[in-house]
This record gives sequence, C-alpha cells and structure tokens, in this order.
Amino acid sequence: MYENIQKTASWLRERLDVLPTTAIILGTGLGRLAEEISVTQSIAYSDIPNFPLSTVEGHSGRLILGRLGSTDILAMQGRFHYYEGYSMKEVTFPVRVMYELGVRTLFVSNAAGGMNPSFAIGDMMIITDHINFFPEHPLRGKNFPTGPRFPDMSEAYDRGLIALADAIAAEKGIKVQHGVYIGTQGPTFETPAEYKMFRVLGADAVGMSTVPEVIVARHCGMRVFGVSIITDLGLEGRIVECSHEEVQRAANAVQPLMAELMREMISRS
Ligand code: HPA
Repeated sequence: MYENIQKTASWLRERLDVLPTTAIILGTGLGRLAEEISVTQSIAYSDIPNFPLSTVEGHSGRLILGRLGSTDILAMQGRFHYYEGYSMKEVTFPVRVMYELGVRTLFVSNAAGGMNPSFAIGDMMIITDHINFFPEHPLRGKNFPTGPRFPDMSEAYDRGLIALADAIAAEKGIKVQHGVYIGTQGPTFETPAEYKMFRVLGADAVGMSTVPEVIVARHCGMRVFGVSIITDLGLEGRIVECSHEEVQRAANAVQPLMAELMREMISRS
C-alpha cells in the first residue's frame, strides 16, 4: 500500500503545476465549492493510478488544482465511503497521497444528521471533536512511517483553525454551531433509537464519512478543520423520513455560506 501511495504521488507530482499545502475534501452536495475555485487542472479519479472510483450520485470524483482567493489548493470533489465497499485503506488513500504531495492543512466537509436539539436544518456545524463508530480502524495493520503506532487524538480538530472560523463567522454574521461528529458506516440512516443512542454517547451530528480521513490526516501530522452541514434532524419525536436527495438539497442550499467561510479561512490561515 505504501508503495502505491508513493507511486500515485509521483505520478501526480509530475503532472501538477504547483503543489499546494492546503487541501479540501468536498462532501455530499458540497461539490459546488469547486466552482469558487479558479481551476487550473482537473483530473478524474479514474485517470489517477491506484485511486478508487467514486460510485455515489452527488460525488463527481475529480481531483482539482486551483486557487481559492489567492491560495493554491487541491480539492477532492467526491470522496470514498466505507459503505461503498472500500477498505479503510482505500477510503483514506487520497489523504495519504495528498500528504506525500506536501499538503499540511486539510479542510473537510460533510452532510450530517443533527441530534442536538438547538440545531436546525441548514445549520453549519464546526466539528470540535469526533467519535469513531466505524467497525474498522483506518490505522489497523502495519504502522505507516508518517506517524506513531499509537497516535494522539487530544486535538483532532485544530483549535486555532476553529478560533479563526469563529472570528470570521462573527465578522460576517454567519451563524455557526459547534459540536461532536460521530462517524458511522451507513448506508442506512439512523433509526430513532440509534439517533438517541448517538446523542447519549455525546454526539451532536452523525454522518457516514470524515472520521477515517481525519484520523489518517492526524497520523500524518496535518492540521484539520471540519464542517458538517446539518441536512436532517434526528430529534426524538421529530424524526421524519430521510432520503439522499433531501440531504443533497439541504447541503446544496448552504454551499454559498460554507464557501465564504472556507475561502476566508484559507486566505487567512
Ligand atoms: N445520518 C447519517 N448520515 C447522514 C445523515 C444522517 O441523518 N444525514 C446526512 N448524512
């Protein structure tokens, strides 16, 4: 696996005009942030050696190189989910490749179900911490030389970046929530009893991604900032049917605000 990571990184290094130190992973319904990027190069995942292929609607599957404001960035339009059948090593492969390319700050976004009663659909939640509820750990197996066998997770989400996001949100009058994201395998949305369990466990939002990528990014020593868009609510007595289309629609509506926050953060961090 490590050899494949090196090979893919070399392949990309030969083709990319610049090697940014910042990358963004765009989640479900959030791929349009890519439109804010002045794209200089765009490579389909299917053209990148060893990259898995994205299979879910709403994830178009491209690695984008461009500028957001005045900063060079790499953006992953579409990510790989565990529920698609990929191993955890495949899910986190692109993060390892980005690290090899020189990325040291990672912005992640996702759509999530809100379990905190003060949340509303369309809220942006700055992820302050996470709970890994996946059945397989991305660091299971032989340790990669990028980090220790037993990595620290006391600050998975960079406090400095959270403070910066708060300052920008206050300045621009953007409403933000804060909370703990629990990552679960899916692909089912939660039953009412499961939403309740996740709330009891200490989570504010639940989704099917992000945690594996963040763990691997931290294993590489990257700074991480994460945002969940609350696309549906898992509140006792208020749970209604949830579909992928609704999740996409709700995420789509918040894209301009998320783009504004991310753009400003990237230009100042
Ligand atoms: N549960 C899990 N994943 C999700 C949800 C949810 O309610 N909403 C968006 N992604």
